[in-house]
Amino acid sequence: MVVLRLSVVVVVLLTFVQWCAYSQSPSQLFVDITLVKSTTAKDLGAYCLDGSLPAYHFSKGFGSGTNNWLLHIETKSLYFRGQKIWQAMISDLLPQGLAHAEKALLSGDSAGGLAVFLHCDNFSRSLPGNATVKCISDAGLFLDIKDVAHNDTIRSLFHDVVSLQGVEQNFESRVHQFSKRS
Ligand SMILES: *[C@@H]1O[C@H](CO)[C@@H](O)[C@H](O)[C@H]1NC(C)=O
Ligand SMILES: *[C@@H]1O[C@H](CO)[C@@H](O)[C@H](O)[C@H]1NC(C)=O
Ligand SMILES: *[C@@H]1O[C@H](CO)[C@@H](O)[C@H](O)[C@H]1NC(C)=O
Repeated sequence: MVVLRLSVVVVVLLTFVQWCAYSQSPSQLFVDITLVKSTTAKDLGAYCLDGSLPAYHFSKGFGSGTNNWLLHIETKSLYFRGQKIWQAMISDLLPQGLAHAEKALLSGDSAGGLAVFLHCDNFSRSLPGNATVKCISDAGLFLDIKDVAHNDTIRSLFHDVVSLQGVEQNFESRVHQFSKRS
């Protein structure tokens, strides 16, 4: 990912939890946090679990990279209201130039990689029809299988996320609808 980060001028880091996960040496670019506009967050009901506004790191591009975008979703996004926060971020970024993107890459690792799978189509549809849009999911597949210790680690991780967010009922009704249809 380092190579990709350097290959475009605009670097947008969508980080939903750990603002400081991006360690810097003094010679590197330091990118401040941008909070999503409170009106956007309110309209969409897009808040973090503790009620705070979603935020991202945004560094505007320049020169030949002005219309080239890299959005990177860091891990841990799973624990938040992903869909609404995603929509709030995109709504915030479109008027800042994303709406005129010529090339755009959405990337993410681990839970962020899962978010890339979930949002890639929506991302592509949000950009101009003639833009080149690509998505890279790095380790974003979580297989529902036993691990080397014969433990259902992934299943129990997802169980914890679902119960933390209190969304069991949504899944049950969707699974029910699905099984009725099939
Ligand atoms: C896409 O179309 C717009 C409007 O016609 C144009 O300004 C822009 O340069 C085009 N972008 C690419 C990547 O061709
Ligand atoms: C992206 O998803 C959101 C929420 O589901 C939806 O409101 C929006 O219209 C979608 N955008 C596009 C361009 O499909
Ligand atoms: C297996 O999973 C259970 C439930 O999460 C946990 O309590 C236990 O420590 C795990 N065992 C190993 C060997 O990881």
